[in-house]
Amino acid sequence: MIKQIQWFPGHMFKSLREIREKIKLMDIVIVLLDARLPFSSMNPELKKIISHKPVILLFNKMDLSDQSVLSHWMTHYQHEGYQTLKIDAQTGKNTQKIHPLAQEVLKEKLTREKNKGLKERPIRTMILGIPNVGKSTLINQLSKSSATKTGNTPGVTKAQQWIKLSDQFELLDTPGVLWPKFDDPKVGYHLAITGAIKDKILPEDDVVSYALNFMKTHYPKRLEERYGIKGDLSYVDMLDTIGRLRGCLLKGNEIDYQRVYHIILTDIRGKQLGGLSFDRLEHVSV
Ligand code: G4P
Repeated sequence: MIKQIQWFPGHMFKSLREIREKIKLMDIVIVLLDARLPFSSMNPELKKIISHKPVILLFNKMDLSDQSVLSHWMTHYQHEGYQTLKIDAQTGKNTQKIHPLAQEVLKEKLTREKNKGLKERPIRTMILGIPNVGKSTLINQLSKSSATKTGNTPGVTKAQQWIKLSDQFELLDTPGVLWPKFDDPKVGYHLAITGAIKDKILPEDDVVSYALNFMKTHYPKRLEERYGIKGDLSYVDMLDTIGRLRGCLLKGNEIDYQRVYHIILTDIRGKQLGGLSFDRLEHVSV
């Protein structure tokens, strides 16, 4: 059974208000989504606020996602008019493509400025995303990117409210935290499974139950390969199978379920079960 969760609408409205106030100052808005959660890591209210601005959607943690599902989502968002790019902010894969893409999107504006005799300048932006999606990791990558090319001292310089990331971007000095919105309880589970929301918000047992049943439906082969789970086992039978396989036993040969939960969530959040995607286009009304 999927439970409804309490969330923090106060935080969400505060951050959306801040974004609305600052949006005028941006050349372009960068929204960082979790490649495994292209729907759950987006905020529908944000879409309205940014609708009149150039936007790049970055799908971060591509290394952890299911590439074929991700490519469907990217096409979906492209049809909605967004520029999209998948990246891995941790290793820096594709992050060097962000600036050229932003320049391309802003070509007319930048050419106009050049024709007026204005000198080339960094692109003003804001990096928005839900907690833990990789904002700081990306900012670190971007602050390194052109320093190696130019031989300048790498890093971040701060002028008033803008943070200069190398010579490519100027970032507004706000946390950029975007609170997810989950009227749909599935969104809450998907955020919990990937670790975007703290483990305490939803009961762990519910999260693991949702996760294992999801894996059984969408990735049965991976369950078989990693844990030897075959066929239509019940949730408890799946837990017991994993517990015995991994020696998660208490005195009297009882299964230590807490340890089993931990193993499952760690495997799902890492790469041990291969690339996974939790949001499915066919399951959400977008
Ligand atoms: P935030 O500022 O948006 O809150 O996120 P942050 O950069 O702190 O990143 C959260 C975690 O996600 C970090 O892991 C970071 O290394 C990881 N991460 C960011 N980008 C990627 C990516 O493209 N691929 C992978 N695999 N991981 C990425 P952490 O430091 O281990 O933190 P945690 O996992 O203990 O929360």
